[in-house]
Amino acid sequence: MAKGLDVGTMNVLSARQEGTDTVFVQQRNSFVEIDHSDMAEQMLSRSDVLHIRKDDTVYVVGDDALEFANIFNRETRRPMQQGILSSDERSAIPMIKLITEQVVGEPESPGERLYFSSPADPIDSDLNTLYHQKTIRSFLEDTGYDAEPINEGMAVIYSELADDNFTGLGISFGAGMTNVCLSYYAVPVMKFSVARGGDWVDEQTAQATGTPVDKVTSIKEDDFQLDFTTDVGGVEGALSIYYENLLDYVIDKIAAEVNEEDVEEGLDVPVVVTGGTSSPRGFEKLFRDHLEDAEIPFSISGVSQASEPMYSVARGALVAARSDEEEERQQREAAPEPDE
Ligand SMILES: Nc1ncnc2c1ncn2[C@@H]1O[C@H](COP(=O)(O)OP(=O)(O)OP(=O)(O)O)[C@@H](O)[C@H]1O
Ligand SMILES: [Mg+2]
Repeated sequence: MAKGLDVGTMNVLSARQEGTDTVFVQQRNSFVEIDHSDMAEQMLSRSDVLHIRKDDTVYVVGDDALEFANIFNRETRRPMQQGILSSDERSAIPMIKLITEQVVGEPESPGERLYFSSPADPIDSDLNTLYHQKTIRSFLEDTGYDAEPINEGMAVIYSELADDNFTGLGISFGAGMTNVCLSYYAVPVMKFSVARGGDWVDEQTAQATGTPVDKVTSIKEDDFQLDFTTDVGGVEGALSIYYENLLDYVIDKIAAEVNEEDVEEGLDVPVVVTGGTSSPRGFEKLFRDHLEDAEIPFSISGVSQASEPMYSVARGALVAARSDEEEERQQREAAPEPDE
């Protein structure tokens, strides 16, 4: 067996294969701190509430954090920001450890292969992903996995471009970041991230309209469409403006970062977009239109959208882990038996 894990700023998801089905387990990458004395014990005795208690403080972690935050009038906090462990959050490490362990579970056998997504270093900020990557890897290895990082954009290619021989441009529009990777026959030739994604859209919209960020996020996630016909002056109008700005920003960076030499002559590159931020109706068309208008140094065969944008990265990490495992099995079988 093998597993894939998507460690995202907003969502942590694992993927594993059961027969012909891929099974996903998901948690919000979020927690809330509550005084134990404020809390009736039976609230936590619901066995599925993920939490830890430290002295007189209880941390409710994952999907339940929001509900507890509302009940106790607290703010949720996030272990990650802009794609990596947050340096401003002192509880980041124990919280994300709990979340990832719950999502991946125990390995089925010691040393089970696991690929986890890790962003590329952003080109528009000083953030560096190394500490994040090493920290996540060490938790997973402590749990008994043989864990390897996989670039988030590359995971998109494994998940969505199998029919194109794992060749193309994969783009993951997440919460904290947007990750871009160009691959030839499953070899990444160029990758980068920008430290902007859905959170940036939410923050800008909140500032522009004087609306609380959480309110903006829920309006955005609840049937918002990128059709530019409604609500000029309202939250949806502002969301459209910042969405368009994010797309143009990412397209500009693609134009600047991909060199002509990166792309084989005569190849038309398939482009696939995914990630939670690509969910609204109209996103794929808007991205395609803006990419067509941009001056980019290579030719594109088409733009498609992943059918399940929240699952692509975990699924791609699983594809990579399974293919590694299969390769190892073949090597073992091909190796001559040791002499008796
Ligand atoms: N239906 C929806 N419409 C618009 N945005 C959505 C929708 N569902 C989720 N999102 C947004 O998608 C983002 C989360 O996407 P995703 O889970 O791909 O990010 P992540 O992997 O956690 O973050 P990152 O890759 O940046 O670390 C959030 O900004 C969330 O608000
Ligand atoms: Mg992501």
